[in-house]
Amino acid sequence: MRRLRVGLIGTGTIAQSAHLPAIRRLADELELVAVADVRAEVAADAARRYGAEAWYTDYRELIARPDIDLVDICTPEFLHCEQAVAAAEAGKHVLCEKPMASTLEEADAMIAAARRNGVKLMIGHSRRFTRRYREVARLIREGAVGEVRLVRENERRPRAMYGRLDLPVGHWTPEGGRPWLASSAYSQGAALTNAVHETDLARWFTGQEAVSIYAAARITDPAGEVPDFLTYVITFAGGALAVAEIVNQLPADYPYYHMLEVVGTEGLIRAADPPMSPLEVWRPDGMAYPLNFGHLLHVDDAYRDEIAAFVRCVREDRDPPLDPWDARQALALSIAAVRSSQLGQPVLLASLEAQGEGA
Ligand SMILES: NC(=O)c1ccc[n+]([C@@H]2O[C@H](COP(=O)([O-])OP(=O)(O)OC[C@H]3O[C@@H](n4cnc5c(N)ncnc54)[C@H](O)[C@@H]3O)[C@@H](O)[C@H]2O)c1
Repeated sequence: MRRLRVGLIGTGTIAQSAHLPAIRRLADELELVAVADVRAEVAADAARRYGAEAWYTDYRELIARPDIDLVDICTPEFLHCEQAVAAAEAGKHVLCEKPMASTLEEADAMIAAARRNGVKLMIGHSRRFTRRYREVARLIREGAVGEVRLVRENERRPRAMYGRLDLPVGHWTPEGGRPWLASSAYSQGAALTNAVHETDLARWFTGQEAVSIYAAARITDPAGEVPDFLTYVITFAGGALAVAEIVNQLPADYPYYHMLEVVGTEGLIRAADPPMSPLEVWRPDGMAYPLNFGHLLHVDDAYRDEIAAFVRCVREDRDPPLDPWDARQALALSIAAVRSSQLGQPVLLASLEAQGEGA
């Protein structure tokens, strides 16, 4: 069986912490041919460490290679549409990181480009491939909690995810930082950065489309430009509710944390990261976490399974396991959350579509 040849764009945090290691683990199926990043030294280093034969600073050179079957896009969301459409136009299958795009118009353009060119498109909503959440979905499907009435989520992250402008942009340890995430020129803040995971899980676990969302957002970081705190209530067509609280400004050592509860007519499922580290050490200057997993959410095989699932659907010419429409709808909810928090009132999803959310 010929290995599929992959080119990866954006060798920053998620590429180095998850995608490139996952591609390496799938070496029987995938061959990393080339990488691209605007930062030459980062691209060259990733190519060397992960065995790509070429690296580029212009992603268009990567896409122009006739020997690449599949492009994996790991750049910030404001670049996804341009790069995904260009890859699809060049006949490449596209796996693209979440959030799908910055606007619904861009998301729709990506879906249209994939259809027009007969290529597969999947958005990397990694939690769809995380064992914990797949188990939750299976339990709900099997009726373990009856009819789902409420999805409640809490997501916490350390402020180090943003700031640290003294570190290189692609630095991927928890002490690192990605300044574009905190810049209003590039980011809309918590709603798209990580609440798009929560909006996606809420749709997945209720199995319902959203009618409206009522959100409040705050910038708690005195130097911040985009909301780092978000809370919302989503009303679904079947009557279910989803509530969430997302905080991205916790002290530097705080572990990435996600808590989920699904309340149904006949029971409740709780799935949560451990509230503390497996080993705590207290010192005069505070508490240290020698065994803390900075990325609690990333410690299973989700990214390997995500990429393997996409490779299977390319090989077998089947639809991707995660329809781009689902990613587009999670994005719609996140964009509606931004709008609602600005208006101070609930936003109907239908009005978002009617008005054109980019307006
Ligand atoms: N699935 C998840 O849970 C998860 C987790 C983290 C990040 N992400 C997503 O992954 C994407 C990237 O995030 P990140 O944290 O890795 O950011 P990052 O800033 O660490 O990495 C982005 C990389 O893209 C490069 N880049 C910028 N412009 C480019 C261009 N025009 N062409 C090529 N390369 C370019 C940067 O130099 C950088 O190395 C975002 O969409 C983010 O939301 C997803």
